[in-house]
Amino acid sequence: MTAILTRRSIHSLRGPAPSDQEFAYLLKGAAAAPDHGRLRPWRWILLRDADLEAVGACLAAEAEPEERALVEKKFMRAPLKAVLVFSPTAEHRVPEWEQLASASNVAYGLMLLLHARGFGSIWRTGRLCQSPGTRNLLGVRPDEQLLGSLDIGTPGVSVQPARRSLEDVTDRMRFLRT
Ligand SMILES: Cc1cc2nc3c(=O)[nH]c(=O)nc-3n(C[C@H](O)[C@H](O)[C@H](O)COP(=O)(O)O)c2cc1C
Repeated sequence: MTAILTRRSIHSLRGPAPSDQEFAYLLKGAAAAPDHGRLRPWRWILLRDADLEAVGACLAAEAEPEERALVEKKFMRAPLKAVLVFSPTAEHRVPEWEQLASASNVAYGLMLLLHARGFGSIWRTGRLCQSPGTRNLLGVRPDEQLLGSLDIGTPGVSVQPARRSLEDVTDRMRFLRT
């Protein structure tokens, strides 16, 4: 409960970010999420430094001229971007929507694990998901979908998000009293 209530999407992220080895370790944990058929219908592409610059430049090239500098700058906000690629198994008894749910489970689990290790993250979508150039650069196949990316790093010192209180969501519950 503590991890869930203290996790917030962190917009301001700096170094350090988890190493590739630490990311791989946390991903192993996140991969324990419910996954109908054990299909692992997802993959991650890690971008740092020059790779971030390359993808940022690609997105900027597709933007309106007056937006280009900002698009590029925004893409470099965090030291690590982990791009989430939805990679469903076609014509499987597990329908695609269930596979998408599995991929989403992994992303949230990973965010919680990052938070528990002192890292911050935010799931971002936006231009990346629609960019033909980025799909090409990242080698995303036609049967795959870009679900955005997790910006990952260390929360800025001024970022001290409050623990969330438990919200009453009982209006989302019904009982079939037969
Ligand atoms: C699928 C998905 C896509 C998101 N895309 C963006 C985004 O493009 N930009 C952004 O600032 N936040 C994005 N978010 C983060 C949400 O805005 C964030 O979770 C929400 O504001 C609640 O904040 P919290 O995570 O601190 O509770 C996304 C979250 C999800 C689950």
